[in-house]
Amino acid sequence: MMKLWGGRFTKEENALVNHFNASISFDQRFYRQDIRGSIAHVTMLAKQGILTDTEKEQIVEGLNGILSDVETGALEIDPSAEDIHSFVEATLIERIGDVGKKLHTGRSRNDQVALDMKLYTRDEIGELDALVRELLETILKIMEENLETYMPGFTHLQKAQPVTVAHHFGAYFEMFLRDRSRLSDIRRRMNTCPLGAGALAGTTYPLDREYTASLLGFDHATRNSMDSVSDRDYLIELCSAMATIMMHLSRFSEEIILWNSNEYQFVELDDAYSTGSSIMPQKKNPDIAELVRGKTGRVYGALTSILTTMKGIPLAYNKDMQEDKEMVFDAIDTTKGCLALFTGMIATMRFNKETMKKSAMNGFTNATDAADYLVNHGIPFRDAHGIVGRLVLYCLDKGISLDEMKLEEYKAISPVFEEDIYEAISLKTCVEKRTTLGAPGPSVMKRVTEEYKKLLEQ
Ligand code: ARG
Repeated sequence: MMKLWGGRFTKEENALVNHFNASISFDQRFYRQDIRGSIAHVTMLAKQGILTDTEKEQIVEGLNGILSDVETGALEIDPSAEDIHSFVEATLIERIGDVGKKLHTGRSRNDQVALDMKLYTRDEIGELDALVRELLETILKIMEENLETYMPGFTHLQKAQPVTVAHHFGAYFEMFLRDRSRLSDIRRRMNTCPLGAGALAGTTYPLDREYTASLLGFDHATRNSMDSVSDRDYLIELCSAMATIMMHLSRFSEEIILWNSNEYQFVELDDAYSTGSSIMPQKKNPDIAELVRGKTGRVYGALTSILTTMKGIPLAYNKDMQEDKEMVFDAIDTTKGCLALFTGMIATMRFNKETMKKSAMNGFTNATDAADYLVNHGIPFRDAHGIVGRLVLYCLDKGISLDEMKLEEYKAISPVFEEDIYEAISLKTCVEKRTTLGAPGPSVMKRVTEEYKKLLEQ
């Protein structure tokens, strides 16, 4: 396919150079955004009297024709074109003749690609946000159904204090809520239009940049043409936000893998979200959760890659910036795929409530509450801690739990204990009494889920 810049050159390009330089294999994914940007550009050119209305109409019709033919498959994107911008422009000229040559008036591929990438990213942020929202809805539903499903809470992966499934999932709700707010921050900050920045120094045509910006749904036109063509901050921010989403999904996956293990048996993944082994017939493996955990590395890779690519680039546009695409696209695809699969996986996962409850009752998760009981009877906390430590040692020795100790045994260690100790350290009390904001008590958790519901309705 014809080059846009052949005029100054006397030799055919070397095939390897061509291949190395070309971006069509990956930038064709934003053909829609490229055409949308061109339509806005010529609409503005006509409003400013730089093109006639007839010229504009011919070009817009030609561009719309290319768009619908690519969509239907009637027009194939030529892999020998240098990039999507060249392909669209050359096809336009082929189809409508000389007037097509006016499309690129007052524009450079540098502001064009900056625009296309922003338009594409903005659309993808919308899709990512919708997927995080669906995940939040699924988490909230699980929370509402499990306000009183007891489970052990852990620190150091050692049983610590009893919590509920609603409380545990609520922690992830908060994480993904922050992820959504990061996405919306990025969208707000990036939403300025670079078109009209030209190659780096604007143009001498009387462009109305604010008009183009408004046609394309931007808040404003960018204010510095050199920054406009060489800013990729928003991609770094997006990679960082996606890396954080993946980190959250990966932590959650790790827990589900543990919970689904033969040792824990807290949950059972649906057959549709598990896989088998080619040799061991008994196996049902949590491959989806493992893949989500594993793919996190790729998304971190994209963040490191773009940060490193950008670090040594002098102003303004340099071809290094073409490297902003492949890994970012991969990170977007990966994060979207993981969000969708993870949501389906937890929506179909079953909780073994009895197993979770039993696990919460063993392992001295009520030891803190036994100490609090003593404090309520006038013992300073540090002494209470020591006394309960002795109770635990005693139980470990006899192979019983605190609930199974007789009152005489309690009294032998501290005379302060009375019959009401059993009620004070029951699993139900341990959870239900924790009603400060943020704690697992079902009454306070219910209020929190109602707040979450409102947040999702916004
Ligand atoms: N394919 C290029 C990119 O992705 C488009 C911009 C080309 N500009 C240029 N001056 N060669 O960055």
